[in-house]
Amino acid sequence: MRVTRRTTAAVATAVALIMTLAACGGTPGEAAAPSVRNHTNVSVYTWWAAGVEKTGLDALVTVFEEQHPDIEFKNDSVTGGGGSAAKDNLQSRLENQNPPDTFLVHAGAELDDYIKGGYVQDVSGLYKKFGLTDVFPKDLIRQLSTDDGKIYSVPSNIHRANMMWANPKVLQDNGIDPSAEYDSIDAFIADLDKLEQAGVTPLSVGTTWTQVHLLETVLLGTLGPDAYSGLWDGTTDWTSLEVTTALQNFKTLMSYTNADRSNLDWPEATQMVIDGDAAFNIMGDWAVSAFDEAEMKLGTDYVAVPAPGTAGTFDFLADSFTMSANILDPENTEAWLETVSSVEGQVTFNKIKGSIPARTDIDRDEFTEYQRMAIKSFDEDTIVSSLAHGAAVPVSRLNAITEATNDFVGDNGHQDVATFQAALAATTN
Ligand code: BGC
Repeated sequence: MRVTRRTTAAVATAVALIMTLAACGGTPGEAAAPSVRNHTNVSVYTWWAAGVEKTGLDALVTVFEEQHPDIEFKNDSVTGGGGSAAKDNLQSRLENQNPPDTFLVHAGAELDDYIKGGYVQDVSGLYKKFGLTDVFPKDLIRQLSTDDGKIYSVPSNIHRANMMWANPKVLQDNGIDPSAEYDSIDAFIADLDKLEQAGVTPLSVGTTWTQVHLLETVLLGTLGPDAYSGLWDGTTDWTSLEVTTALQNFKTLMSYTNADRSNLDWPEATQMVIDGDAAFNIMGDWAVSAFDEAEMKLGTDYVAVPAPGTAGTFDFLADSFTMSANILDPENTEAWLETVSSVEGQVTFNKIKGSIPARTDIDRDEFTEYQRMAIKSFDEDTIVSSLAHGAAVPVSRLNAITEATNDFVGDNGHQDVATFQAALAATTN
């Protein structure tokens, strides 16, 4: 066993408990039993705290309450899209030995730091118990597994990050073909310029994490899937000319965005397209739930196409739930993970969330036209890992990239591309 500060603290707590029991006349052997069902709830930590994301979580909770009526769901959520505020807050709770019973994490590299820190438990036993190994796509199982074959979370859904949403009326009014997909960023920029000339906000974006999201799709759209993936496995040179071109493209796109971006999270930025206050928004396909909620029809009231230059690629991320280490009642967490992974849980949740179920043994006809498109893309297209949503890099590196992006975009004007590129290249060290 690796001795960490936490282990030492756990040993100290156990010693104190034994001493207390001895003082009460109890024996150490009896200590484990009463603690097991000491509490009847499960605290579930997410950033699905408001709007359509909360509606999705609420739907999952309804299934949980049906499946496990004796356990109370405790909503432990922190506002901030993409986990922008939740992750820091979670980190301090974990360091202070105050973990939620289970927390939302992205499948992939984002899990690494939590595993290394000893903050999560191996749940591969539950995959056997619930029969999950064969019902999740092999690629997803690979993303979730460590080199020694352990799995530390259970996925609820799969999202596609490289999507662009558009208001067809705004496009038509300005002489732009509303059904057009852009096979290059240059072609896209030409239309953004037309919109700007006409006095329309061409592209809406929000606060820094949504800008990192945009950056990710621009890197993918400029470099293509292989070189994009090489940014994360070290085979693409961050100082190359191609990356310079991508960053220049990002700078150009940012110059067509709304000035109040730093005050907006994704729902407000997407809402600008819903309301016709902006033509385009590039956001993951949780955005589709906002169009659904506004009762807009795909193709007629809104357009959903791959982000410019990214057709044929599925920029992947998956939400999943852990079992925290050192929790009082793992059985309740196990019950939550059972609901998350169940057919009923995945169908009910994903219908509202806009994502596709992680399970493959589900009737696809139950889902919307957009979701069926996403399922097809996931089956047929090249899959790459999302940067902004934890699949590609650990939290620490994403934080460094986010900081560099924030410095680059700033509130007024921009830093130069060379400084930005050097800052990004430095995150590989
Ligand atoms: C999560 C989604 C969520 C989005 C916006 C992503 O990181 O994976 O579930 O809807 O952030 O908050």
